[in-house]
Amino acid sequence: MIGRLNHVAIAVRDIAKAAAVYRDTLGADVSEKVAQPDHGVFTVFINLPNTKIELLEPMGEGSPIAKFLDKNPDGGIHHVCYEVDDIIAARDTLKKQGARVLGDGEPKIGAHGKPVMFLHPKDFCGTLVELEQA
Ligand code: CO
Repeated sequence: MIGRLNHVAIAVRDIAKAAAVYRDTLGADVSEKVAQPDHGVFTVFINLPNTKIELLEPMGEGSPIAKFLDKNPDGGIHHVCYEVDDIIAARDTLKKQGARVLGDGEPKIGAHGKPVMFLHPKDFCGTLVELEQA
């Protein structure tokens, strides 16, 4: 069902500082900071030859990554994103197997303009999983 690793997301308190680490210290190709108001975050993408790193900074009080940063004040790996060919078929198959889809169960448009959904970390080895329509 799952295909390519689309990205690994890292939550941080200061996205400019984190982007500078990847750009200046690690010498990576770093995108501009983009607001994602539907998801309550700012994003920066680090483009690597085989995948991407998504830096996330909370936007506003009710940001879904605020609690994560309370528990992980230095930042940390927040989720992994796998590509699927058909996100609705993937969701239906996973739900039949008892997996929990977060939110209202409908895909939202993600940071790349494609439908995404999140799966409960307790069902996937303690890791929040994002699925993105390939
Ligand atoms: Co993501």
